[in-house]
Amino acid sequence: MSHNTFGHLFRITTWGESHGPAIGCVVDGCPPGIPISDAEIQADLDKRRPGQSRFTTQRKEPDQVRILSGVFTDEAGEQVTTGTPIALEIENVDARSKDYGDIKDKFRPGHADYTYLMKYGLRDWRGSGRASARETACRVAAGAIARKVVPGVSIRGALIQIGNDFIERKNWDWEEVGNNPFFCPDAKAAKRWEALLDEVRKRGSSVGAVIEVVADGVPPGLGAPIYSKLDQDIASGLMSINAVKGVEIGAGFGAAALSGEGNADEMRMKKDGSIEFLSNHAGGILGGISSGQPVVARFAVKPTSSILNPRRTVDAKGKDTEISAKGRHDPCVGIRAVPIGEAMVAIVLADHYLRHRGQCG
Ligand SMILES: Cc1cc2nc3c(=O)[nH]c(=O)nc-3n(C[C@H](O)[C@H](O)[C@H](O)COP(=O)(O)O)c2cc1C
Repeated sequence: MSHNTFGHLFRITTWGESHGPAIGCVVDGCPPGIPISDAEIQADLDKRRPGQSRFTTQRKEPDQVRILSGVFTDEAGEQVTTGTPIALEIENVDARSKDYGDIKDKFRPGHADYTYLMKYGLRDWRGSGRASARETACRVAAGAIARKVVPGVSIRGALIQIGNDFIERKNWDWEEVGNNPFFCPDAKAAKRWEALLDEVRKRGSSVGAVIEVVADGVPPGLGAPIYSKLDQDIASGLMSINAVKGVEIGAGFGAAALSGEGNADEMRMKKDGSIEFLSNHAGGILGGISSGQPVVARFAVKPTSSILNPRRTVDAKGKDTEISAKGRHDPCVGIRAVPIGEAMVAIVLADHYLRHRGQCG
């Protein structure tokens, strides 16, 4: 009923609020014997961590993970999972609740203030409570474990659009993703985005973005033909991220404009006896089941709703008013959404890998 859990066999439950003492997560169902170090989890968390450039929120959270259970250092000195629940905890150390005092009785247009109050009859307005994307740090920590469940899989994400400014696909270079503050695979676009985001911030506004996640090395056969299709569950995982308003798999909405011939991912036998697809409009999923091609998903995030520029709204007493969100906010939430998207895809793939083995061996 409370819906804080995601997944079936590889299952995560997150807890915590933006300005509480800590946030955390329990990963249940992870197979035993998987090597996982604190540093591996921390490396993923460090990618999502706020305040790393002037283009993200200036909240300073070290996001130091503490593994409380579910791991054991084996005789070879390696930390491995035990098969029992893995509890992860991340302290909140830089909450500034007073920044929200002025707007605690007002509803930010585009945010969850109004709907939380309608649902629960009260809301934790400090830093947006549970509606804050602070919760997503837990998914990233869980995702670092999930990545290790499917042998040979590699999951990478990139920011491919900010506002109306797109990358050029011919410039795509995965190496570039780590070289700029946007996780952008196109060095030229990343350069343009610096000026673009500086201008957005100066105007007291915000901007949306599109993220692409590619999973290479996904074995064929993961997924299910009807309910719990692999693409359905990836869409569900990505859609569960704060501010996400659209998800595409493969050619996505663009497939509607293709002909049957253009969309067909033609197949050929290779000399080594394996099968080759000549294109990947399907995004690596056919009939809800992975084909062995790279799994490709994109998701769109809306512009941050907490902006400096005043907007019309109403307050909890039913009066018309205006709101201007002070405090520290991401001018483009899409940047930090990149590692979060990777984590959600990793969690879905780990879950489906275990479910596939459960049914098919
Ligand atoms: C990485 C990330 C950071 C975010 N930071 C902010 C923020 O600083 N200010 C804000 O108003 N919303 C931020 N959001 C979006 C809100 O959490 C989200 O819009 C809100 O919970 C309402 O949910 P919805 O947009 O999914 O309907 C962020 C989202 C993500 C993914």
